Amino acid sequence: MMGARNVAVQQIVYVLLTISCFAVLSNAGVRDDLEATYDGPTTRYYDWTVESATVTVNCVTVPRIVVNGEFPGPTIYAVEGDRIVINVTNKANTDVSIHWHGVRQILSNWHDGVPYITECPLKQDEYFVYNFTVENQQGTVFWHAHISWLRATVVGALIVYPRSFTYPYPKPDEEFTVLLGEWWNTDPNAVEIGGVYTGGGFHVADALLINGKPGSLYNCSDVEGISTFKVKSGKTYLLRVINAGLNTETFLGIANHTQTVVSADGEYVLPKDINTSFISPGQTLDVLITADQEPGTYYMESKSYSSILITDTTVLPPVVVMSLRNDEPKIPASAIFQYDTSPPLDPSQTFFPALPEENDTDPTFRFLDSLHTLYPDQVPAQATRKQFFTVGLGTQPCNPDTKVQNCTLATVAHINNITWVQPVSSVLKAYYFGIGGVYKTDFPDIPQHFFDFTNADSPDTPEQRTELGTRLSVIKYGTVIDLVLQGMNNLLFQNHPFHLHGHSFWVLGRGMGNFDPNTSPSGLNYHDPPFRFTVDVPTRGWVAIRWKANNPGVWFFHCHLEKHTTWGMMMGFIVLNGDGPDETLPPPPEHLTSCST
Ligand code: C2O
Ligand code: CU
Repeated sequence: MMGARNVAVQQIVYVLLTISCFAVLSNAGVRDDLEATYDGPTTRYYDWTVESATVTVNCVTVPRIVVNGEFPGPTIYAVEGDRIVINVTNKANTDVSIHWHGVRQILSNWHDGVPYITECPLKQDEYFVYNFTVENQQGTVFWHAHISWLRATVVGALIVYPRSFTYPYPKPDEEFTVLLGEWWNTDPNAVEIGGVYTGGGFHVADALLINGKPGSLYNCSDVEGISTFKVKSGKTYLLRVINAGLNTETFLGIANHTQTVVSADGEYVLPKDINTSFISPGQTLDVLITADQEPGTYYMESKSYSSILITDTTVLPPVVVMSLRNDEPKIPASAIFQYDTSPPLDPSQTFFPALPEENDTDPTFRFLDSLHTLYPDQVPAQATRKQFFTVGLGTQPCNPDTKVQNCTLATVAHINNITWVQPVSSVLKAYYFGIGGVYKTDFPDIPQHFFDFTNADSPDTPEQRTELGTRLSVIKYGTVIDLVLQGMNNLLFQNHPFHLHGHSFWVLGRGMGNFDPNTSPSGLNYHDPPFRFTVDVPTRGWVAIRWKANNPGVWFFHCHLEKHTTWGMMMGFIVLNGDGPDETLPPPPEHLTSCST
C-alpha cells in the first residue's frame, strides 16, 4: 500500500522542508491537564472575536475572516457534562453566526447558531452569548460559521472527553486533531456570490488543507511548512479527523500505517482496521494509529473523491461536462508522520500512501458498510412516522432585476422538489412567539410524484422541477421517524452528505437505484447500525435512517456541501414540546439579535 513516488520531487521536498518550520500539533498536553485537574462538571468560558486577519495559505497572503486572529480557529476542549459559554463578538464587515456542529443542544435550540433558523445573524459590532452543555455525548465534533461560505476560515475543533477519561479501547499515548479543509485564493464569499450570479457552478477550491496547510504537493510548503505529527516508535495515537471542507468528500490514508476507526460522528463504533478511510464534509472520525513501522517520514494524504456520475454527456454542453469532471481539487493535501528517531524527510525513508482513484465508489461503500455501533440493540423497534425525501438538483428562472443574477436559468437544489428560501426572520423566534408569515409547516412527507428516480434516461419532466418555499416538517415530541433519502437524476448523480441538527440518527442501510418499500427494508441493519449526524445519500442510490425526535425546537436538515446549501438543499424540522419541563423548549436567552436592519 505504499510506494516511493517521483524521487526528484522527494529530493526537492526534502531540501525545502528541512529548512522550514514544523508545526507542533499535539493535544496530549491538554488532555492530560484536563484529566489531572478534573473535578466534576464545570463551566468553560470563551471570548471570541470574529475579525479580519491576514493569513498565508497556498502561496497567497490575504485577509480572511477568522476567530481571534487564528486560522484554523481555536479548539474547544471540554468534558462531558460541562457547560460551554462563548461570547462571540462580530468585528467583521459581514454577518456571522457560529454553529456547534454535532453538539446535541439538548433543550438549547436557541444556541444552535443557524442564521434565520435559530437566530438572526450577528451584524458588525453585535454580540451573542452561546451557552450550552455537552451532555450525553463525547468525542470529536467541531464548530463553524453557518452563513455564506465563511466556514472556509471560521472553523475549529470541539473535543469532548469522557468524564472517566477512559475509552472502550486502549488509551492512546497522544492525540492529534486532523482538521481537513478547503481553501480558495479568492474570498470564499465572493466565490459563492459569483456562482449565484451566473446561475452555474462555483469555482473549485484552490487547495485541500490539513490543519490549515495544503502540504508539499502544492509547492508552498517551503515557506508555509507542512502539518507535522511527531511520533515515537511503538506509541499509539488518536487522530481526531474532522472534514470541515466545504464541497469535497475525501479519502484519507497514511503510508504503511493501518487506521483503526473507533468512533464516527462522536459515537463509538466497533473498531475496524482499514487502510483508507472516507470522510464527507460534516463528518468526524476518531482513528487510532500505532507507530509500528521503521523510523521514517510517512505521508498522510487527504484526496478528493468525486461521486459525480454524468449520465448523459450528449445532452450537456462539453464545457459543462468538463467542469463537472473538474469539480474537486485534483491535488491531495498532505501532512507528515515524523518518527522522532529519523531525520525529517530523508528521501530513502519517506513513504506515500496509495489512495483509490478519484472516482472509485467501491471503497466508499466498503468503508461505510464497515461501520457498526459499539452498542447494539439501541435502535427503537418501530417507526411511528415515515418520510421519503428525494434530493437532487434542478433549475429556476434567474432574477436579473435584483442585480444578484445575470442569467436566464439558474441551477438550484431541492428536497422533495422544494428549494429552500431563506426567511427574513428566525424561524425559531417566529415559532416561539407565534409570529406569522415567516415560514410554512407543510413540508410534504413524500414527493408529489413517484417515478424512476435513478433512471439516467428519465427526461426532464415536470416531476423534476422545483418550487421555492420556506416549508418545515412538524414532528410530535417522541416520534420515531424512518426517513429514506433518495438521490435522483437531474443531469447528474452525486453524493449528498446530509446533516441533521440537534440529533443523531441510526444509519440503517443504503442501496443503489430506487428504494423499494416492499423489498429494501428487509436488507436494513436494525441491530448495530452506526449512530451518526451526517450521512451520505449515495450517488444514484438511497440511504435509510431512523431518528427519534426528542429535542424540542427548530432543527435544520441539509446537504453539507456548501454549493448545494447555496442552491437550497435544505429544510427544517420543528420538534414540538412534549410533557413537562424536560420536554419543553426553554424561553430564549435575554439578549437576542434582530433580523431587521
Ligand atoms: Cu455543519 Cu447546518 O451544519
Ligand atoms: Cu448535496
